[in-house]
Amino acid sequence: MIKLSTSFVALLALVPFVAAQQSAWGQCGGQGWTGATTCVAGYTCTYNNAYYSQCIPSPGTTTTTTSHSTTSSAPASSSTSTAKLNTVAKAAGKKYLGSATDNPELTDTAYVAILSDNTMFGQITPGNSMKWDATEPSQGTFTFSGGDTIANLAKQNGQLLRGHNCVWYNQLPSWVTSGNFNASQLSAIVSNHCGTLVGHYKGQVYSWDVINEPFNDDGTWRTDVFYNTLGTSYVSIALQAARAADPAAKLYINDYNLESSSAKATAMVNLVKSLQASGVPIDGVGIQGHLIVGEVPSTFQSTLQQFTALGIEVAITELDIRMTLPSTPALLAQQKKDYQSVIGACKAVTGCVGVTVWDYTDKYSWVPSTFSGQGAACPWDANLVRKPAYDGIVAGFTS
Ligand code: G3I
Repeated sequence: MIKLSTSFVALLALVPFVAAQQSAWGQCGGQGWTGATTCVAGYTCTYNNAYYSQCIPSPGTTTTTTSHSTTSSAPASSSTSTAKLNTVAKAAGKKYLGSATDNPELTDTAYVAILSDNTMFGQITPGNSMKWDATEPSQGTFTFSGGDTIANLAKQNGQLLRGHNCVWYNQLPSWVTSGNFNASQLSAIVSNHCGTLVGHYKGQVYSWDVINEPFNDDGTWRTDVFYNTLGTSYVSIALQAARAADPAAKLYINDYNLESSSAKATAMVNLVKSLQASGVPIDGVGIQGHLIVGEVPSTFQSTLQQFTALGIEVAITELDIRMTLPSTPALLAQQKKDYQSVIGACKAVTGCVGVTVWDYTDKYSWVPSTFSGQGAACPWDANLVRKPAYDGIVAGFTS
């Protein structure tokens, strides 16, 4: 920031195009920006990324004569690493560093170019298009076009594919939730859905989230249509149908809030043990990893080890680390550390096979629409510019 003398300010006032000040929250800099680069009273032009600076409230000041250069070297809110994420993940012994994606995003060519670089992402997951509402919208009628687009993209790019998901309480068509099926009917429906879905992608999927989010946070079972009708048996029905449909695919149960030792993590450990004891196929647990800046659990690594000690693999399947907006250099620096600790925990655990970010860019993150006032959770910003979090991922794999 430069403090301007009173006489220089008076001189500037005679030059209209220089003297104009941007209004609160307006753009005030970035590559190609030709408008005002100073802000109205009480606001400071703040670097966000190479393409965008914004007038945000000045912390505890009412100064009107401050100016902020947006052409100076980038502050600590940019990435500096030149390494590629999947390359460093593989060098650390992992199978992949991947990203979720979604069909509407695939018209964004700049986005797809980054997504399709298999040195950056060695794996992709469809965020929505393999879910029940997308794949069996009416009973017995299967529609795979959205999922096929993403499976074909993975194939073209030489990337692994994670299937997401067979059985979840959410994004269910009403024929499932309101059908009043008895246990025998619903058992056949679950078996047919998972068998047909997994069978359609036979040979193309590295791992399937066969069961998604079966537990409440206190470790009790989620009372959805499946549990209410079939009890816990829906889990083995789905897993057995999936194994029969694609014997080579790794079969996972996936959930959130499994990142520290908790009643929910204990419930998941006990479920895996009981499936193993009954001979039901189970190959992995997905730790989603929807986290908050500054709140990565210190027990993350030991929690991963709790699962791998059962003889199964783990993967971090939906990583993002959100913050209260607006993002600041301090929050971005903490986010970098948080990404590094999560990746470091996976690196340290042999049975942790890979990490998937729940889309790589803030442009397409699910967070702001779900958590009001929060966001900036991904390693690329909304202009597809890498954030410090990117360097945190690299450091997690390399240090
Ligand atoms: O498909 C409809 C479209 O027809 C309609 O016009 C539009 C209007 O809002 O909505 C579209 O559906 C949206 C859907 O994504 C597909 O874009 C839903 O509103 C929206 O709620 C849904 O959000 C998804 C969310 O799961 C649903 O719970 C997110 O994109 C997806 O990233 C998110 O992913 C979940 C994982 O599957 C499981 N773990 C948590 C994770 C984050 O919530």
